[in-house]
Amino acid sequence: MTEPYLSLPIDDQAAASLRDSGLRLALVDTADDDAFDAWLSADARGFHSKQPSPAALAQQRELLRHRRTTGVYDDNIPVPHSPVGTVNSWPAPLTVPGPGQVDSWLISSVTVAPTHRRRGIATAMLPAELRTAVALGLPVAALTVSESTIYGRWGFGPSAFSTAWTIDARRAGWIGPATRGRLSFTTAPEFIETGRALLARQNAAHAGEVGLSEYLADRTMTPLEGAPDASTYRIVRYDGPDGDPEGFVTYTITEDDSDFTNATLDVVALVATTDAANAALWRYVIEMDLVSTVRAHTRAVDEPLPWLVRDIRRAKVTKVQDHLWTRILDVPAALEARRYENAGTLVLEVDDPLGFADGRFRVAAGSDGVASVTETTDAPDVSLPVGALASVYLGAPAAAGLAAAGRIDGDAVALDRLFRTAVPPRLSSWF
Ligand SMILES: CC(C)(COP(=O)(O)OP(=O)(O)OC[C@H]1O[C@@H](n2cnc3c(N)ncnc32)[C@H](O)[C@@H]1OP(=O)(O)O)[C@@H](O)C(=O)NCCC(=O)NCCS
Repeated sequence: MTEPYLSLPIDDQAAASLRDSGLRLALVDTADDDAFDAWLSADARGFHSKQPSPAALAQQRELLRHRRTTGVYDDNIPVPHSPVGTVNSWPAPLTVPGPGQVDSWLISSVTVAPTHRRRGIATAMLPAELRTAVALGLPVAALTVSESTIYGRWGFGPSAFSTAWTIDARRAGWIGPATRGRLSFTTAPEFIETGRALLARQNAAHAGEVGLSEYLADRTMTPLEGAPDASTYRIVRYDGPDGDPEGFVTYTITEDDSDFTNATLDVVALVATTDAANAALWRYVIEMDLVSTVRAHTRAVDEPLPWLVRDIRRAKVTKVQDHLWTRILDVPAALEARRYENAGTLVLEVDDPLGFADGRFRVAAGSDGVASVTETTDAPDVSLPVGALASVYLGAPAAAGLAAAGRIDGDAVALDRLFRTAVPPRLSSWF
């Protein structure tokens, strides 16, 4: 393991504060199967998932070895090798408006054993992750969250929302464009490389998406060991008129025991690198015989589905949810990485109680969309906490709401004009 992010020592400050509570912060040696299994089991327990089988543990060891894996241990409990706190993290590109990419620190598997909750373990682990990201020179950290009440305190803000849909497939009525490509069934073993490439291409084109590790990419095509629906995944690929792959949909179908014509189709992933692929794959699932309901989740807030069906009300958004949370650590690097759709200059006063992003910055975006971001002593146009900056960072229409809520001061209209993008950010995976 030679990657700097794997070998960087544990954060001193967090280790010291946990030591004061009789706890030990340690990097997990992911080459040590017993230690890693104990950590993986604690992670599953922390999310109330079932204990992974030996086969599932073996798979996870293999697929998650590349992550920096940290545990908090209580050496005074009877089973001290089982961590009471878990977190893992790894660098990955985050797509920003442009599209461009910013190197980010993705954080996952944040759990604290219910036996040790609310003693400040998460409070030690999360800032430690942020300091580690800074030590690695990464300007942004990001995560997806189980609850939206947790991460604001460490300067994260919701940066991209997602939608879930339920479609009355019999009544929606397809009116989308005819497409000229070809649909065909495939299987994970034969398609996985192509699927990974399609995901990479799709995600590099949309602000808010992240570069997926093989672990995260492959889950869209094949269930992990132990998943209850392991044998039910179907994958259909869409190849454009010239034969090039442009997308795929993975789905499961659940029969209705009392009515064979009333099945429900759940979209696991619908990946498209072109509008034609998106339309063709939606049409495919909506027009499926013997299926009356189609459900999909982690879709964009501007999913074009309502415009593809005759009866808009039969394609219902059942959930709109904060999904990607980001944490800006280096304001100039983060803001210069993206492009801006309107030229303009703004002075931002950023408040960051943890000190990473604190300061006053002039953001000057030219007509080419490129911005220079420099520290300044000029009077601020907008004052905002670092979490609010995260909420406008990727182009979401958040400025007016934040101003109405009293969470930013100053010229929110100018902030919106500079940061908002015509296409809102999205994230179509969990990590
Ligand atoms: C979320 C979790 C990691 C917090 O761990 P913890 O060690 O108990 O948290 P801390 O003791 O450091 O608490 C820090 C602060 O966050 C608050 N907090 C912690 N979890 C919270 C939650 N779920 N909702 C709201 N506030 C929460 C605490 O009240 C505390 O607030 P204070 O500083 O004002 O007193 C833990 O509850 C957990 O494992 N939950 C289940 C798994 C999960 O949801 N993980 C998050 C994955 S994204």
